[in-house]
Amino acid sequence: MNYQALEQQLQSLYSTFSDSDQLLQSICDLLRESVSHYDWVGFYFKNGDKRELLLGPYSGEPTDHTVIPFGKGICGQVALSNENFIVPDVSAQDNYIACSITVKSEIVIPIIKDGDNIGQIDIDSHTIDAFSEPDVHLLEGICKKLATIL
Ligand code: SME
Repeated sequence: MNYQALEQQLQSLYSTFSDSDQLLQSICDLLRESVSHYDWVGFYFKNGDKRELLLGPYSGEPTDHTVIPFGKGICGQVALSNENFIVPDVSAQDNYIACSITVKSEIVIPIIKDGDNIGQIDIDSHTIDAFSEPDVHLLEGICKKLATIL
């Protein structure tokens, strides 16, 4: 599916959702089904006042990494930096939490609500260097929209 058609399906999810977790799950499922280089799609959210992330809805293989301390791995670094993090080759990263040996590249985009980093979308790919500007654009759009909903 091209990203324009995907955006339209996302708009339809936003306009019809009734429950936040169900919306997040639908976004994960839609993204993973629609984009061939998205092999695992999930959300992590800040756990209250704790300096850790908790796994939220996701689509793909179950992961052991349901709690990630701030600063650990790609996700934990984004929790501190508030910046997008694209990893073209995960094997070149020292501070990386491996969920599966099949994962080759990763993208994490923060969800900034009222200036606070409340969580992030995390996507793993089995393809090396899978992510580029169209992915960033798509995922930033989702995170911006979620900041107005969550
Ligand atoms: N690779 C991530 C951990 C989460 S899994 O990809 C689901 C990281 O380094 O933070």
